Amino acid sequence: MARVDIEEVVKTYGNVRALDGVSLSIASGEFFTLLGPSGCGKTTLLRTIAGFNAHDGGHIRVDGTPIDDVAAHRRDMGLVYQDYAIFPHMTVSENVAFGLVTRRKPRAEIEERVRRVLDLVQLGPLADRLPQALSGGQQQRVALARAMVINPRILLMDEPLSNLDAKLRIELREDIRTLQRSLGITTIYVTHDQEEALVVSDRVCVMHQGRVHQVATPPEVYARPATLFVASFVGAMNLFADLAVDAAGNVTVAGVRLRVPALAGRTRATIGIRPEDVVLDGPDDGAPSLSFDAKVERASFAGRELLLRLTAADSTGLAANSYRPDPSAVPQPGQHARARLPLSRLHAFDPATGARIGTGA
Ligand SMILES: Nc1ncnc2c1ncn2[C@@H]1O[C@H](COP(=O)(O)OP(=O)(O)OP(=O)(O)O)[C@@H](O)[C@H]1O
Ligand SMILES: [Mg+2]
Repeated sequence: MARVDIEEVVKTYGNVRALDGVSLSIASGEFFTLLGPSGCGKTTLLRTIAGFNAHDGGHIRVDGTPIDDVAAHRRDMGLVYQDYAIFPHMTVSENVAFGLVTRRKPRAEIEERVRRVLDLVQLGPLADRLPQALSGGQQQRVALARAMVINPRILLMDEPLSNLDAKLRIELREDIRTLQRSLGITTIYVTHDQEEALVVSDRVCVMHQGRVHQVATPPEVYARPATLFVASFVGAMNLFADLAVDAAGNVTVAGVRLRVPALAGRTRATIGIRPEDVVLDGPDDGAPSLSFDAKVERASFAGRELLLRLTAADSTGLAANSYRPDPSAVPQPGQHARARLPLSRLHAFDPATGARIGTGA
């Protein structure tokens, strides 16, 4: 168990600032995920924590002690990569034993620890197999077991599931989470898959272009995205960009005006609403909302949900989802619908900085 503090860490490659002043703290025993699009700096940050990258500025501490000058092999961290990196000529148990053999542990201890960790990842019966006789998911379990057997203070995982098919990814992410909980090991996990990040993490750090945009629990990130980038990267969000705000805090969307108290005193704002928060043809409960007629452009029935693409008379586009749709009443293109955007469900952002202003509620 270990706490990790990252303070103003900078890493440049030529003129690319791969890490542009990253600060965050990871609590002992936490499952912490770095989430962001390709090239945002996730791997660079993970490798910097592991000690494989020298950073150009800032500090990394573990339990308060700076480790900036500690060699990678002395940092006591276990690493799992996307491409397993297990040895093809060694059996499952030899692969898992590797880190203990190089640490010159007594043979009896090695056997005992390997057996225990193989049971944990449910590979006990396959201990004598060679990797070529394993599925992708089983190979990744070997990599996980190999990282865990040395009892690292911190477990680092870089997109460990991305080479697996969708079904296996879901299965293994549950297993990784359960295992991490039972061991209580501080875990830093990298993914570009927002759903995976929401499902497995205690907290998520959303990164973009070498910077931290938000660090929060999954429900907080989803309900209160800190920036425009987070709003569009995590889940889906309809955005009405760079609207004029009048002196009373009114904005106009699809020709309809609404006073958004949070916008008082501002001149411009970007407003967002998640597709599932748009109310279609529902009874008006009298709460403040933007309400307008729209035409169905496209209706996609996906079983448990219905995905609609709508356009208002002034050609404002809107995505709307509803759950448990009635299969006998799927709207047809050209049909009209009344769309209501409740004030309490709106998100407001500063168009200049992208920072969250708040919601209307
Ligand atoms: N060894 C290197 N030399 C030069 N530039 C690099 C090097 N490693 C990474 N970069 C650059 O640093 C930035 C961050 O890269 P990084 O690999 O950390 O991204 P990532 O978030 O892990 O992306 P992905 O999801 O594609 O793995 C990118 O612009 C990348 O091109
Ligand atoms: Mg990467």
